[in-house]
Amino acid sequence: MRLTPRPMAPEFAPPYQDLKYMAPLSQERAAVLSKFVASNASGCVLDFGCGWAELLIETLEQGHDLTAIGYDLESDGISHGRTVAEQRGVGDRLEFVVGNALESLPDQAGGVFCIGASQIWGASVEENQPLDYRCALTAIRDLLQPGLPLVFGDGIWTAQPTPEAIAPLAGRLDEFVFLPSLLEIASECGFVVMRTHQASLDEWDEFESGFTAGYARWLADNPADHPDRAEVAAKLARQTGAYYNGYREILGMAYLQLLAV
Ligand SMILES: C[S@@+](CC[C@H](N)C(=O)[O-])C[C@H]1O[C@@H](n2cnc3c(N)ncnc32)[C@H](O)[C@@H]1O
Repeated sequence: MRLTPRPMAPEFAPPYQDLKYMAPLSQERAAVLSKFVASNASGCVLDFGCGWAELLIETLEQGHDLTAIGYDLESDGISHGRTVAEQRGVGDRLEFVVGNALESLPDQAGGVFCIGASQIWGASVEENQPLDYRCALTAIRDLLQPGLPLVFGDGIWTAQPTPEAIAPLAGRLDEFVFLPSLLEIASECGFVVMRTHQASLDEWDEFESGFTAGYARWLADNPADHPDRAEVAAKLARQTGAYYNGYREILGMAYLQLLAV
């Protein structure tokens, strides 16, 4: 039987080529977050949804007695994280688990990062349910002895959501909460808030630009009559439209420096 070769999907540069972190997060703010964990953690620091583990690497560079485990679904990001960890001299203290973090949860942690990954414990993103911060915070609290740190980051509303903002997200006004509600939830789940951060518009613009840079570069690098051009242009237009005509200045990102109590 003769098999017709399947057309190759267009390939884009990996996100770590254009982004330092897979979140709207500046290096300055990341330095504050990693310093907080490095100076309050003890033993093994976990990062749920670590991406390419840049925050864990920065934490290990400061906390020389610490070890760490990064969990993520994406093997590409983890391979990159492994290489960078070796280059920066912390590879022997950093392990990775590729796959659903829920399937290999430890029963304790010396400190935790969880940034943009609350859905690990709640409903999956595809279900378009409200983000279940409480479920994630309760599960993480169970891993920590009092006094140990958690950096928790996730989406919040920073302005009243509009129909244009929610359309490319889960399509619901209650997908996220405002910052005061998130602070209350953190406290009800057994944490004290040591410091609150909210991503700036610059951090968001940089993140969104980095996120779409792979599509933009593909369009710049490929000929005008490439058969995939329309598809790639549509991806770029969809994402930039979702942001600039939709959730920019409405979807925010909070980072909380928490200690278990
Ligand atoms: C918004 S990104 C944040 C990445 C990283 N924390 C950072 O700040 O650079 C969320 C990450 O969570 C990962 N993720 C989502 N669900 C997961 C699951 N069930 N288990 C492990 N990782 C998961 C995704 O693959 C993604 O890399």
